[in-house]
Formats: sequence, C-alpha cells, structure tokens
Amino acid sequence: MADGYSFVVVANRLPVDRTTDEHGETQWTRSPGGLVSALEPIVRSSGGAWVGWTGAPDDDTGPVQIDGIHLRPVPLSAEDVDRYYEGQSNSTVWPLFHDLVEQPVYRRDWRQAYEEVNRRFAHAAADVAAEGASVWVHDYQLLLVPAMLRRLRPDLRIGFFLHIPFPPVELFMQLPRRAELLRGLLGADLVGFQRPLAAQNFLQLTDRLLGLRPSGDSVVYEDRTVVARAFPISIDITEIDRLAASPEVQEAAGRLRSELGGDRRMLLGVDRLDYTKGIEQRVEAFGELLSEGAVSSDEVVLVQVATPSRMRVAQYQQLRERVEREVGRINGEFGEVGTMPVHYLFQNRSREELVALYLATDVMLVTPLRDGMNLVAKEFVAARRDALGALVLSEFTGAAAELDEAFLTNPHDVEDLKRAILAALASPPADRTTRMRTMRARIQSHDVDQWAREFLDALGVPVHQ
Ligand code: ADP
Ligand code: G6P
Repeated sequence: MADGYSFVVVANRLPVDRTTDEHGETQWTRSPGGLVSALEPIVRSSGGAWVGWTGAPDDDTGPVQIDGIHLRPVPLSAEDVDRYYEGQSNSTVWPLFHDLVEQPVYRRDWRQAYEEVNRRFAHAAADVAAEGASVWVHDYQLLLVPAMLRRLRPDLRIGFFLHIPFPPVELFMQLPRRAELLRGLLGADLVGFQRPLAAQNFLQLTDRLLGLRPSGDSVVYEDRTVVARAFPISIDITEIDRLAASPEVQEAAGRLRSELGGDRRMLLGVDRLDYTKGIEQRVEAFGELLSEGAVSSDEVVLVQVATPSRMRVAQYQQLRERVEREVGRINGEFGEVGTMPVHYLFQNRSREELVALYLATDVMLVTPLRDGMNLVAKEFVAARRDALGALVLSEFTGAAAELDEAFLTNPHDVEDLKRAILAALASPPADRTTRMRTMRARIQSHDVDQWAREFLDALGVPVHQ
C-alpha cells in the first residue's frame, strides 16, 4: 500500500480484453464501449493504475503494465460472470436504469454475487492505492464499491461516475435492497452523472429512501458532504481528428463509397448490438421508407455496424434474431443482385475503419431509445472536418442536450424517425454545413480531457499530467 498509485481507476472492464489466439498466444484487444474510449487516454497520460476484469472467465492473469497503465486484473469465475455481470449488472440494473426498455429480472443469487464481486473490486482498489490516493470508480456494475472502499480505506478521496442514465425515483424504488445500493454510492465524496436531471434524481432519492436533506448539489451523509453533479462526458477529439486527417483513412472512406455504388446516399449506424440503441426501430423505419417508395435502394443504402455485445444474455440474443430477420426481409424484398439496401456487419471494427465509415456517410443515424451520453454521435461530428454530413439524433441521448443542431427525433415513434431521416436526406448542403459547424465548435471546446479535469477538480484532486 505505501508505494501504491496516487491515481486509480476502478471499472468492471480493464481498457483491454485478454484473449488467446489459435496458437495459444495471449492477445490484448481494446475493450468495447464508451467508458473505455473515454478513460483510456486519461489514465495513460497520468501513469495511473486501472483495476478491472480482463473480460475472460476464470482468468488468473496477474498485474501487468500495458501502454503506460498498470493493470490490476480482478478475476471473475464463470459463475460470477453469469450472476454478477450478465445477471445483476446487465439483466437487472442496465434495463431498469434505461427506463425499462426491456423488463429487468430480479434474483437473489444475482444480488448476492454482485455484492461479493463488488467487495473483490473494493479490496483490489484498496490494495493498489497509495496513502491519500484518489480513486475513481465507474459505472453501474460497481454501485456498492464506494462505500466498501471507504470502510477499508478512509484515507482515500473517492469519486464515482455513472456512464448511464440514473432513473427517476419511482423506477429506482423497484430495486430490491435499494437503500443499500444508494448507501453504496454515498460512500463517494463526489458522484458524477451525464445529465443534471440524473443528479437531481439521485439527490431526491436520498431524501425519499434515507430521509436525508439534500441542499443545492450536495447532501450530508454520515457527517460527510457528498456532492452530486453533472459532468457530460466527451471524446478524445485529437485522436479522432488525427484519424480523420490521415490519407489512409480518407482513401478507405473513398473506397467504401465506390464499393457501395458511387451515387447512392449512405445512411450509417454504429453501435453495440444493444436494445437501448434503437437499431431495430431504425431498420424498421428504413424498411418502411423503402416500401412506401419515399426512398429507393438505387439511391440510398443503410450500413449498420453492430458490435457483438453481452451475447449470452437472452434479451441480446433475441434482439440479434429480430434485427437479422428484419434485415434479411428488407434485402429480400427490395434488393437487386449487387445493390442490397441494408449492409449489416455484426463485427468489431478498428478505430481507423470506424472513422472511415464516419467520413464516407451522408447521414449518421444515432437513434437510442435511451442513452446516458452516446459517444458515437460526438465522434461522427469530430470526424467531419469537411463540415459535411448530417446527424439524425435521438432526443433520448445525453448528447442531444449539446448537439441540438442535429436532426432530432423521437425513435419510439417510427413516423417521426422516418420524418427525421427524410429531412436529413433532403436538407440543402448549406444547411447541413451550418449545423455541422455549430456542433463541431461546441464539442471542440469540451473534450474528454477537460471532462476528467473538471471531475477531478471538483473531487479536489491535483490534476495529473
Ligand atoms: P456504449 O458505451 O453504450 O457502447 P457509446 O456510443 O457511448 O455507447 O460508445 C461506444 C464506443 O464504442 C465509441 O467510442 C465507438 O467508437 C466504439 N464502437 C462502437 N461500435 C464499434 C465497433 N463496431 N467497433 C469498434 N468500436 C466500436
Ligand atoms: C457501456 C457501459 C460500460 C460498458 C460498455 C460495454 O459503455 O456504460 O460500463 O463497459 O457499455 O459493455 P460490456 O458489457 O461489454 O462491458
């Protein structure tokens, strides 16, 4: 402990996943999702430690140094993965916090595993943190960690950031052992959210569940002040800009365009295959536009990149089946040899390929039914140095609060989704450029580094690097 790290990130996943290739060699690949995209550059530049899971069950990998980050793996057995990760985290908390887009499942054995695994993370963090260190705990998989860690190490400054929405009081009240989860979060000195409304929900809950008296953006709990505030997350703008400026990426974008058929307008979706992302609604809207003759497959093509995610969870398997059935139906009905209306890629793509896709597209479709922020929307805007390209954006994303020059839509209403897609396709180039320039200016003044600085400043931590 004495010579531990002065800055420690704790998240369910390490920034890299460990896999074994066909020759038995260890491979480390970037982990999925916005949390890792946002935090990895910050921890790398501050020389801190990262406590998390390698993404593989029953993995006993020891501490390892990768890209300037000290990685401290927390092992999960296959049963932990089943109960804590796929169960309580992704079949209970995730759907509940996303406004019940799918029905949450409540199980006692999952809750117990969640508590046990949270304790393991708290011990690992206590183990690597130096005296008086700052520990930054992340996301819905680790709601109990702040309080557990405080009990183990009262000397630490503890921050917590929730990357997903925080639900209204009446939804949170559904959770079994809800007061314990709330007390878990109150172990932090600072609790950060994507949106001010989420911070308000949290503070109201402290009143409703624990009878505390929040005042302004803080609440006193066990003789400590806990601050709850919004810190909207952002992206690594320099990285995206560098990729977008690279001749290789620009050539790849050009190739994509010509492969799709030079004159066809391109619609693009890039998401983890998750029911919160509105992929199904997007594909359905496009199918209806084709069948009504509002667009034709000679003129418009939809490319949907769907990263495999949480594939052992039933709701995700069912979503995959529904999306693939619908894509097959649309291609069967409206395709010609050589001109399929929907190109569906159930694959992980490199950062370079993603940016090439962003550059190649005419209209980016970001249509979640609910999303804490949505980094894809911001990455698309950051990539468009040419100030061309239109963004169709769901009102139910955190990003919509900052990108209101996008073509905003309510994806729960397929008619409205169709209207927004047609409006984006029909908008004059000058209008699209004006919108894009305004959005670019807005995100450029606030990148992920600044987000982290603001959070750490509020936590009272001297900012590293
Ligand atoms: P979430 O965190 O829910 O997955 P976000 O949009 O906030 O959603 O963040 C997703 C991150 O994952 C972005 O940085 C995006 O570039 C990356 N990503 C999304 N799809 C892919 C893909 N197919 N291959 C590689 N990275 C992806
Ligand atoms: C979202 C969550 C992250 C999570 C990521 C990928 O970004 O907020 O906590 O890591 O999705 O999901 P996975 O289940 O693969 O870690």
